[in-house]
Order: sequence, then C-alpha cells, then structure tokens
Amino acid sequence: MGRSQPPRDRTGQAVTRHAVVIGGASGIGWAVAQTLAAEGATVTIADRNAEGARDRAAELGAPHAAATVDVTDEPSVQALFEDLPTPAVVVNCAGYSGFGPITDLAVEQFREVVDVCLTGGFLVIKHAGQRMGDGGAIVSLTSLNARQPAIGMSAYCSAKAGLAMLTQVAALELGPRGIRVNAVSPGFVPTPLTEPAAMIPGVVEEYVENTPLGRTGTPQDIADAVAFLCSEKSSWMTGEVLDLNGGAHLKRYPDIHDHLMKFAGQ
Ligand SMILES: NC(=O)c1ccc[n+]([C@@H]2O[C@H](COP(=O)([O-])OP(=O)(O)OC[C@H]3O[C@@H](n4cnc5c(N)ncnc54)[C@H](O)[C@@H]3O)[C@@H](O)[C@H]2O)c1
Repeated sequence: MGRSQPPRDRTGQAVTRHAVVIGGASGIGWAVAQTLAAEGATVTIADRNAEGARDRAAELGAPHAAATVDVTDEPSVQALFEDLPTPAVVVNCAGYSGFGPITDLAVEQFREVVDVCLTGGFLVIKHAGQRMGDGGAIVSLTSLNARQPAIGMSAYCSAKAGLAMLTQVAALELGPRGIRVNAVSPGFVPTPLTEPAAMIPGVVEEYVENTPLGRTGTPQDIADAVAFLCSEKSSWMTGEVLDLNGGAHLKRYPDIHDHLMKFAGQ
C-alpha cells in the first residue's frame, strides 16, 4: 500500500494530524505509531503500560507524547480523549488473549478477554466518536480469529467477531458525521501477545503450512494497512474489515490445543 503523503490544505501546506495509538507500547501498535509518525502525524502513544508508552514516545521524540489508559475502564478512556487535542486518527491496538477449553474456562477469564477486546473497543469508539469530527478515522484491530474459530480461544474469537460487527455498526452511525470506522484483521504476527503460542512446537509451522504466502506476518505488514485506512487514500472506505494474513483465512487455523497436548506429552 506504500507510505501516504502528509495531508495538505488548499494552499499546499502540510497539515499535522494528531493520531492516538492505543496499545502503542508494544508489537503491532508500536509499528503503527512509528509508521504514522513517519508520515507526519503527531502521535500520542496510549497504553495501560505507562512506562512502556513513555519509553516508546521518548524513542519517537518531540512532539510525540505518551498517555496512560485502560480501555476496560470508561472514566480512563473518557479522560484520555478529554485531555488530548482532538485527534484526526484513533487506532485501537489494545488486545489480550487467554487460553482454555470452554468446559474448563472460568467465567472471569472469559470476561477479562471480552472486556479488553470487545468492551474496550466499544469504549474507544464511543469516546473517540464523541470528540472527533469530519475527516476522522478510527481503526480497530480484530483478528483472523473473528472468522476462523480456534480450540481453546472461545473468548478471544467471540470478542474479535463482536468487534468486527461493532466496526460496521459504528461506521453506519458515525459516517454521517464524516468519521470513517474500519478494522484490520491480522493473522499470526510474532509479538509479545503471540509468544506463548509460538513457543509450542508445531504451532507456527502449522500456521505457515495453511498460509498460501508461506510466512507469518510482521507488525509492519499490519501497520502499512492501518496507515492506509487512516489516510485520505481510503477516503471512501468505511465499515471494512481488512484481512491481512497471507491468505490463511482460505485454509484453517492451527490446532494449538493439540500441539500443546503433544508438547505436554499427553
Ligand atoms: N500478534 C498477532 O498475531 C495478532 C493477530 C490478530 C490480532 N491481533 C490484535 O492486534 C492487537 C495488537 O496485538 P499485538 O500482537 O501487538 O499485542 P501486544 O501484546 O504486543 O500489544 C498489545 C498492547 O496493548 C496494551 N493493552 C493491553 N490491554 C490493555 C488495556 N486494557 N488498555 C490499554 N492497553 C492495553 C498492552 O500493554 C500492549 O502494549 C491486539 O488487539 C491483538 O488482539 C494480533
């Protein structure tokens, strides 16, 4: 998709966009923050990990900044958007996954994942949507697991499927105000989130086997698509959930539970 040029006003002057990248202290969010900054946006890295957000913002340097937010906590999300200048772009990369078959899973574990991945997505769109205006873009991170079920990942799959639908409802509601709402749906990308699964022998190999393009993704693969959805190049796109997975959605998801059982010698 390539790098976008910074937006310009009628006189050809570059206009600085303010972008908030939630979950920007790590993995895909960090790649998104760097990409938007390289395209000329002023980026606020917001994360539950306050120290991580500060370190990453310092790495980007001024005028980029850090903020602390917990997407599961409404006052925290509300304060984030009240305290910052109105953003042109909001990217929500906060995410978390647990693992365990439904019959063994405590409801608290189920709720924890849904809280971050779905309710958090709702709170970000709600409060970003209240503040933003014409030309705004909101991008959420769903997952290949929104459409491809995985044994042991009931909460994550359900929450990400809900987030994909939420994206479409929000696009309907916010479109008349000139705010576009889209999502990207990554396949397997090595990051701290996927480290536990990647450590189980056979999981990455099975993903790659079931991927026509024959590799896992990189945070930059995802960041480039996010930057496209944040830019004027996608000005007629809303309510879209973009699959980015090397074609893995055409085949099947690895049986992580089976690999885990084999690894554990059962
Ligand atoms: N890595 C993958 O293979 C993959 C695949 C599909 C979807 N995704 C999604 O992409 C997004 C980014 O994932 P990643 O792999 O970069 O993970 P990551 O763990 O590297 O980064 C997630 C970031 O979100 C922050 N975060 C977690 N809970 C939060 C909360 N309640 N409030 C604010 N911040 C919070 C974390 O502190 C962390 O900095 C997630 O939504 C994830 O579900 C990732």
